[in-house]
Amino acid sequence: MKKVLITRKLLKSNEERIAKIWKPIFNTKDEIYSQNKIIELSKDCDGILTSILDKIDENTINKLSDKVRVISNFAVGFGNIDLKAASKRNIVVTNTPDVLTDATADIAMLLILGASRRVVEGIKWAKNKNWKWSVDFLIGKQLSGSKLGILGMGRIGRAVAKRAKAFGMEIHYHNRSRLNQELEAGAIYHNNIQSLFSVIDVLSINCPATKETEKIINKKTLNFFSKGVVITNSARGDMIDDDAMLEALKDKKIFALGLDVYNGEPNIHPGYLEHSNVFILPHLGSATEKTRYDMANLAIDNIDEFFKTGKCTNKVN
Ligand code: GLV
Repeated sequence: MKKVLITRKLLKSNEERIAKIWKPIFNTKDEIYSQNKIIELSKDCDGILTSILDKIDENTINKLSDKVRVISNFAVGFGNIDLKAASKRNIVVTNTPDVLTDATADIAMLLILGASRRVVEGIKWAKNKNWKWSVDFLIGKQLSGSKLGILGMGRIGRAVAKRAKAFGMEIHYHNRSRLNQELEAGAIYHNNIQSLFSVIDVLSINCPATKETEKIINKKTLNFFSKGVVITNSARGDMIDDDAMLEALKDKKIFALGLDVYNGEPNIHPGYLEHSNVFILPHLGSATEKTRYDMANLAIDNIDEFFKTGKCTNKVN
């Protein structure tokens, strides 16, 4: 039987499936393992089922035992794994696309709504019990008739577009390459971010974290937006330069910000906590029972397929 390290605790039903097909090392206390601990625990393993908080960098990959042939990441994103280093050692890396698209797009809409309609302030007032309805009380931004910019029009970006259209928003997007008409579904393509950012009322970040997208929202590009923009990020913290964003918030260039992801998670830059127009969630994108179950199942399938065939449909390196 193949031996597999599962770095984080999964749902019971997923762990039961694993126990039937492999000799697993489970993380019963759900600790966050250090890189050394992952190297140590996986030394007799054929594969590792990782998650987004496991930083599998070049140094870690180089120290993994020769026995480890596959790393299956419990996520659609794989910025936590050095793909090149894995390829050099002939280790296959896989991810879990599709199954989390709807749940993540729902959270992207929640960020758009929460930021645009001043939910943080609204909850505070409601709890204070000393509010009164008035015509100009907590005036927010209306979605219908406004322009949503989607940065990264992959599966999740397109699912956000579909939802936002139902709210009456006009969809604009930037992507490395233009989509075909069917996938575009009426969305307006911009071949550079300046063109996109300068026409939109709301931004939804849905691109992967790569060297090209790291800190793509920075001091210079924040100037491309018109005053009063709403910016949301349900992808990865890497895309935002926090210092530049906080400066823009202080200067009131941004109406509101909605964040589900952060640089250096689980830490959140303390500056964000000082602004009542910043709507923050603790990385809940894929957090529904169905989605987490489906993600684990796919992460298991990926390893299983690799063990059986030497290949994997969801290989990313
Ligand atoms: C979650 O953040 C994922 O990439 O799956």
